[in-house]
Amino acid sequence: VKKVKKKKVLLMGKSGSGKSSMRSIIFSNYLARDTRRLDEDGEGDMALRAAGSSLTEVAHDSGATIDIDLSHVKFLGNLTLNLWDCGGQEAFMENYLSQQRMHVFSNVGVLIYVFDVESRDVDRDMATYISVISALIQYSPTAKVFVLVHKMDLILSAQRESIFEDRVKLVRQKTAECVASAGVGLPTLPSGEVDITAFATSIWDQSLYKAWASIIHDLVPNLALIETNIGHLGRLIEAEEIQLFERTSFLVVSNWCSPVGALNPFEDRYERMSNILKSFKSSLAKYSGTPRNAEQFRDFEYKSGTRFSLFITKFTTNTYILVALPPGEARYNAARL
Ligand code: GTP
Ligand code: MG
Repeated sequence: VKKVKKKKVLLMGKSGSGKSSMRSIIFSNYLARDTRRLDEDGEGDMALRAAGSSLTEVAHDSGATIDIDLSHVKFLGNLTLNLWDCGGQEAFMENYLSQQRMHVFSNVGVLIYVFDVESRDVDRDMATYISVISALIQYSPTAKVFVLVHKMDLILSAQRESIFEDRVKLVRQKTAECVASAGVGLPTLPSGEVDITAFATSIWDQSLYKAWASIIHDLVPNLALIETNIGHLGRLIEAEEIQLFERTSFLVVSNWCSPVGALNPFEDRYERMSNILKSFKSSLAKYSGTPRNAEQFRDFEYKSGTRFSLFITKFTTNTYILVALPPGEARYNAARL
């Protein structure tokens, strides 16, 4: 019997920055449009909830998170993510940093800090971020930090890269200052720099899947073994490419390419597949009237006599596999077998 591993994952950032939205999309099969708040203003949601109106259900579904929303996400069978979605309204933040400080910040494996790229008050956002980092250094100095600069869809595409880079530079600089003044803490790179992984994300494209696949990648035990075995399988069935998806989130856990497969110039294809498969699954559920999490999707295949063949199918209890092969009926059938 494999031991169940629990890691505490803190999801933090200002209210309205998009934390609960991304959580529901990745782990609860929501579509991006399902996350829109009834009332874009957090205060409004609170008032609505307090009034106990018949809209409470909707408000609960899409409103500001009250205090901490805890969930245990099962991943690949033996990994349980202990996800703490921390409501970002100021009163809550103050509470995490004072009364609940030890409770919130101890035993953290990963901190995911979400910045709203559209926020007008960057100084204030930074100050809050630094308070969080200080608490993390104090109680979980080995935690890994991921920074998501989120809602990138709201920025003109020509400006995205430079805005992202400026923001990340600032975050790194402030984090380094904080670590220096604390004198201890947080994992560093060989260069001596604090090891922060940053992503530009949006719920409206596949960038969210890229970020979360990377976060998960760091948490899955035995990944090296899985990767080696996927490579063996790929060579045996003469595949060009294999992608392994986690069953519910459709995040890519592992991938392998043959030398020919590695020439595929199609960028972002892993996270694009996650995004597409997730939407596909969701529309199947919609048309058959089954609940969001019900499993519907079993098999997909594409065969071209001249280009390539591909299938996506259930693989293990917790995974789906995508296999791309050179054309040829015999090879395809053998691989399926
Ligand atoms: P608190 O629970 O109060 O801390 O807020 P939160 O960080 O959980 O924010 P939430 O996920 O509730 O999102 C707030 C609003 O932002 C919703 O209306 C979302 O639809 C919207 N939103 C989330 N992600 C994105 C994004 O990538 N782009 C855009 N344009 N809007 C987003
Ligand atoms: Mg929330």
